[in-house]
Amino acid sequence: MIDEIERIGLEARGRIAAAATLDALRAVESEVLGKKAPLTLLRRRLGALDPEERRRAGQVLNETRDALVATLAAHRAELEAAARRARLEAERLDLTETLQTRSRGHLHLVTQTTDHLQDLFVGMGFTVAEGPEIESDWHNFEALNIPADHPARGMWDTLYVDVGEPETVLLRTHTSPVQIRVMTTQPPPIYAVMPGRVYRRDTADASHMPVFHQIEGLAVDRGISFADLAGTLEAFTTAFFGGAIHSRLRPSYFPFTEPSAEYDINCLLCEGGGCRTCGQTGWLELGGCGMVHPEVLGNCGLDPEEWSGFAFGFGIDRLALMKHGIDDIRELFTNDVRFLEQF
Ligand code: DAH
Repeated sequence: MIDEIERIGLEARGRIAAAATLDALRAVESEVLGKKAPLTLLRRRLGALDPEERRRAGQVLNETRDALVATLAAHRAELEAAARRARLEAERLDLTETLQTRSRGHLHLVTQTTDHLQDLFVGMGFTVAEGPEIESDWHNFEALNIPADHPARGMWDTLYVDVGEPETVLLRTHTSPVQIRVMTTQPPPIYAVMPGRVYRRDTADASHMPVFHQIEGLAVDRGISFADLAGTLEAFTTAFFGGAIHSRLRPSYFPFTEPSAEYDINCLLCEGGGCRTCGQTGWLELGGCGMVHPEVLGNCGLDPEEWSGFAFGFGIDRLALMKHGIDDIRELFTNDVRFLEQF
């Protein structure tokens, strides 16, 4: 009988050790210690033994059972620890991995370009001013020498805002009204640049957007001449585009400047040789400029006999496109991250 108990004990320990999961271990437990387990059945046979043998067999049986209970508990603890380790591993969040795979994002190309332009002009002694995007007809047109019946109004397809008298409030069509706001609120000398968003009733295509950005420049002082304008724009051109690129001024017309000019730079692709981008001319058109019209100075309460000034206005988006060789302005506004993250 004792041999049999020991054989059963040995076999049971083997099965306990072989249980690979907590569920398997629970099944083994009832097989080796339950009501129908071999050890339990053996105990019923103890009564048939003589007293001495029953005492010894009973003792071995109890010891074997206690040993099995201890072995079960130890193996269960091991399996529980392994299960906990597996769960923690599965739930682990590797934050360093997350940081490595996500990019951090950066300022939009238009914002970068605006900042760069401001920096350059601040470096040349200009301050930065801003004005409202919803503007009065007076600031946007009248004060700039563009009365309601003036044919030049057609240069700006205007979006009006339904406030007050019809066509008295609008979304500014250019940043030039900020010149008026600056001249009517601060005394000369004035050296200011004015970046901002502008609106036109235009259909989007590769070179137009109904919402885009301009930067305006204004200098008003005693004795300002056209040479100051040309020199300022040439200094700006080489600073922004690099030393190989130069500027030229071509006669043009704007109601608020006299004389007025178109500001061109050497084509960035062919550097002046002539190519498809510049239509074989070697020049790219960047914006308008000129000497502030005496009427405009007068409208702002400045005596044109005492003060003179120059002004200019460029498209910021267009500057960004040219600098980076992008051929469609819509790319700047569709917000495709694969495009934006290149800049
Ligand atoms: N405001 C003009 C436009 O939007 C650009 C411009 C031309 C601005 C000549 C100026 C200037 O300051 O002098 O088309």
